[in-house]
Amino acid sequence: MAIQRPKGTQDLLPGTVEQWQYLEETMRCVCREYGYDEIRTPMFEATELFQRGVGQTTDIVKKEMYTFLDKGDRSMTLRPELTASVCRAYVENKLYGQPQPIKLFYIGPMFRYERPQSGRFRQFHQFGVEVLGADQAVVDAEVISLVWDLYKRLGLTKLEVHVNSVGCPVCRPKHRVQLQEFLTTRRDGLCKDCLDRFDRNPLRILDCKNPACQAATIGAPTTRDTLCEDCSTHFEKVLAFLEAAGVVCRVNPRLVRGLDYYTKTAFEVMVEEIGAQSAICGGGRYDGLVEEIGGPPTPGFGFAMGMERILAALQVQHKLPEEKPRVFAMLVALGEKAQIEGFSLMSALRTQSIPVSMDLLNRSLKAQLKAADRQGARYALILGEQELEEKVLLIRDLTLGEQNQVPLRKAVEEINKMYQRGVNA
Ligand code: HAM
Repeated sequence: MAIQRPKGTQDLLPGTVEQWQYLEETMRCVCREYGYDEIRTPMFEATELFQRGVGQTTDIVKKEMYTFLDKGDRSMTLRPELTASVCRAYVENKLYGQPQPIKLFYIGPMFRYERPQSGRFRQFHQFGVEVLGADQAVVDAEVISLVWDLYKRLGLTKLEVHVNSVGCPVCRPKHRVQLQEFLTTRRDGLCKDCLDRFDRNPLRILDCKNPACQAATIGAPTTRDTLCEDCSTHFEKVLAFLEAAGVVCRVNPRLVRGLDYYTKTAFEVMVEEIGAQSAICGGGRYDGLVEEIGGPPTPGFGFAMGMERILAALQVQHKLPEEKPRVFAMLVALGEKAQIEGFSLMSALRTQSIPVSMDLLNRSLKAQLKAADRQGARYALILGEQELEEKVLLIRDLTLGEQNQVPLRKAVEEINKMYQRGVNA
């Protein structure tokens, strides 16, 4: 039996890869303009990094990590997200010694052993941003504005930006007590996971998708009810900055994130049209994470967005750019001699950086013209026995259906002129 790709992974084939390239280029462009530098970290890290960083009680650490022992008996994990890795790199490379804040972005694959479904993969790709070393509210707003700006450039619409403050180690314990008190009499209605969360991390119960848990938490105290003065002032400032930047968002007091490191601001972006997995971006502030993994106390703020989900949204909203033609001209050589002459011509054109290709299967004129059409070539450069004898090249404009002859020795020059005219048009 033929071997198949692992469940929850995808092969990105030509045609689709161009869409990814477009998305990646747009992301890189926005990051450059905002002054963010790219960081690349390893695909796998010591398991302890995610246990300590993401949190022992999270679904990611409890159920979804690809963890293995390497040949030296060390426990390693394929990265399920990159915030913990970026913080590890920040500490390990002493980036805290450089002028702050450090503004970074990344694009790459992540791995989570989840139940695959539409929009949910085991290998998926994230574009993310992390700002380390600044605790001001304006940082939160700048990063959320970057997300907003990127979506505008991509032409995405029907988005909802939800923001909340999940508090800090000063005010969260108060909320925890109030929430547990509220839920004590409603414990019977909770799912098995939430019963487990009740003692370890009750905040996450507010985020459970189980209808019974959602019913049990109606009217539950939210983190916003118990924010300390510092968190409350910070959140008000974030909202003011977001308004100033024209970001339309909704305060959602029930928004809690699935990772343990968040403090103060948390946010998510949703697009309804792509089905159940509607979160296309999530992030927030994490002022304790760098210290948690052994670095100096350092505030942080960032987000990650699922690239598969953004592409799905762009597809549904018909916002993906049309496929660009692959080549400018296709060389159609008929017969062995013409092929050799044609090959030499193609090589000369390629040294001038003109995108040309040629049939590699020695097919008929009709088949070669069809291939030229498939590749989106504007011109067919036809070289048959007669052309060879007369030392000319037949140039056929495939859009207009016109054709003319040029002397073979002048062909490169002529085609270059036509190409430059096209490029500059
Ligand atoms: P996250 O909410 O776990 O946050 O993931 C961010 C985004 O990645 C989600 O909103 C979703 O679009 C996408 N995503 C997550 N899991 C999958 C999956 N299995 N298949 C497809 N897409 C998926 C984080 O990862 C944090 N590190 C974000 C962050 C950065 N917070 C601060 N800085």
